[in-house]
Amino acid sequence: MKGHVLRPLYVVLALVALTFAARAFVVPPDFGAHEKGYMYGWYRKGNEAEWKAFKVKHQTRSYCEGCHTEEYSLIMKSPHGIINCENCHGPARDHPEAPLKLGIDKSRALCLRCHGYLPYKSTGREMIKGISPEEHNPDVECVSCHSPHNPLGGLS
Ligand code: HEC
Ligand code: HEC
Ligand code: HEC
Ligand code: HEC
Repeated sequence: MKGHVLRPLYVVLALVALTFAARAFVVPPDFGAHEKGYMYGWYRKGNEAEWKAFKVKHQTRSYCEGCHTEEYSLIMKSPHGIINCENCHGPARDHPEAPLKLGIDKSRALCLRCHGYLPYKSTGREMIKGISPEEHNPDVECVSCHSPHNPLGGLS
């Protein structure tokens, strides 16, 4: 075979060898397939302890039910029953221990995150009713008309 064909081949082989050599240094020794095999068990063993110690930020709404029963039962009957409280109030962490209170955001921006009209036909985002912020009661807080926990209730 001609030299000009073999030379690039040697370069490629050298790169492959180099990659394997580098991998031996960089990948931790406890990384590999564990009890659950290649599909679910492909991870670093030492990582298990790190994830167990990881503090959960989001609790989901069933966590709120016992203490904020009123807000919970109201929202569950409304169109907002399909979104989680923490979408609007932020991560609960260990609330009410820490933080004692969760944030309340009354800005239009909070609602427009989901309700600003977006013409993306093929995405699920289209399923949420969108409004034009310039035309739909501009400059007035959404929550002065729509209760966030019952957004269609009490509208006149
Ligand atoms: C163990 C009971 C408990 C649980 C569970 C709980 N809360 Fe609270 N929440 C409280 C208490 C107590 C306060 C403080 C009330 C006060 O001092 O005004 C509070 C305050 C709040 C406030 C601020 C209210 C205000 O008037 O400023 C919000 C918002 C809130 N909680 C949302 C949530 C959400 C969302 C969840 C679920 C992810 C949740 N809470 C879970 C007990 C709880
Ligand atoms: C769509 C956003 C949104 C969702 C979802 C939501 N909240 Fe709220 N929440 C608000 C806003 C905005 C206020 C302030 C309303 C006001 O003062 O007019 C508020 C107020 C509160 C308050 C203060 C007291 C009150 O009723 O005004 C509590 C407690 C609360 N929310 C708990 C919850 C819980 C529990 C859930 C889930 C079951 C939840 N919220 C879901 C936006 C939301
Ligand atoms: C995390 C995304 C999210 C946020 C934030 C949010 N919404 Fe919604 N909203 C929804 C979804 C999902 C529905 C149910 C689908 C629908 O009806 O469009 C809904 C439904 C509604 C509806 C009923 C629409 C109809 O005709 O059925 C109104 C009104 C509404 N939201 C107002 C608000 C207001 C006001 C805020 C701010 C306080 C807000 N939303 C914040 C996701 C959100
Ligand atoms: C001055 C009161 C008022 C304010 C402020 C207001 N709305 Fe509305 N909104 C209404 C009324 C009344 C309706 C029902 C009649 C209509 O469709 O216009 C409505 C309807 C809606 C709908 C349903 C639209 C549909 O196609 O069925 C959504 C979503 C909505 N508003 C979201 C918002 C958001 C998000 C904000 C803030 C950015 C907001 N609204 C501010 C009064 C208000």
